[in-house]
Amino acid sequence: MAKITFLGHACFQMESNGQVFLFDPFLTDNPLATTSADEVQADYILVSHAHADHLGDTYDIAKRTGATVISTFEIIQECEKHGAKGHPMHIGGKRAFDFGYVRVTPAFHGAGIAGGHACGFIINVKGFTLYFTGDTSLFGDMKLLGDIERINTFLVPIGGNFTMDVDDAVYAAKLVGANHVIPFHYNTWPLITADPEEFREKVEQNTASKCIVLAPGESTEL
Ligand code: NI
Ligand code: MN
Repeated sequence: MAKITFLGHACFQMESNGQVFLFDPFLTDNPLATTSADEVQADYILVSHAHADHLGDTYDIAKRTGATVISTFEIIQECEKHGAKGHPMHIGGKRAFDFGYVRVTPAFHGAGIAGGHACGFIINVKGFTLYFTGDTSLFGDMKLLGDIERINTFLVPIGGNFTMDVDDAVYAAKLVGANHVIPFHYNTWPLITADPEEFREKVEQNTASKCIVLAPGESTEL
């Protein structure tokens, strides 16, 4: 069970097991943000890469809340320089935490930091499994990830230009085979315009997944 709130662009908050997990907390300067870096809560912050629209307010939120940042080694080194607490991982790494486990997945995208690599996350909280791809192209090993994990909820970018577009993301949903699919990384700026209703219809026509389109600030319980 988890409550998932879309905070705009690529930022999600997941509440599960009495803990709050924040993904890619870009709130300041995010045209879609419905909350601010001063008020959002977090116990863990998962950061997929260091582009400003993903790393965002990570350091400030982590320092204010005492949250642990989970990301790649290079980003955690930067976090620690900024006085935020972090746990370094890397692609292919899987580790148990008090809430369950995290698996760091590949993402085909820029790292935004020297020597780094963009990633995604599969997070399991007391048996509820969510896959957040980060910014990425479509890649065939999403099928492998869907085979080795039982994914309840799949968060996927649909805006094109920097990531998958609607049709690539529908194919990704087919590969992953999750119960629920939620789109992100669209309509923040004109360069990543996409129609989430077109995505919803195509997912439901072409896959066995249910698609949930969340407006910024909106939540769903899964
Ligand atoms: Ni990016
Ligand atoms: Mn991005």
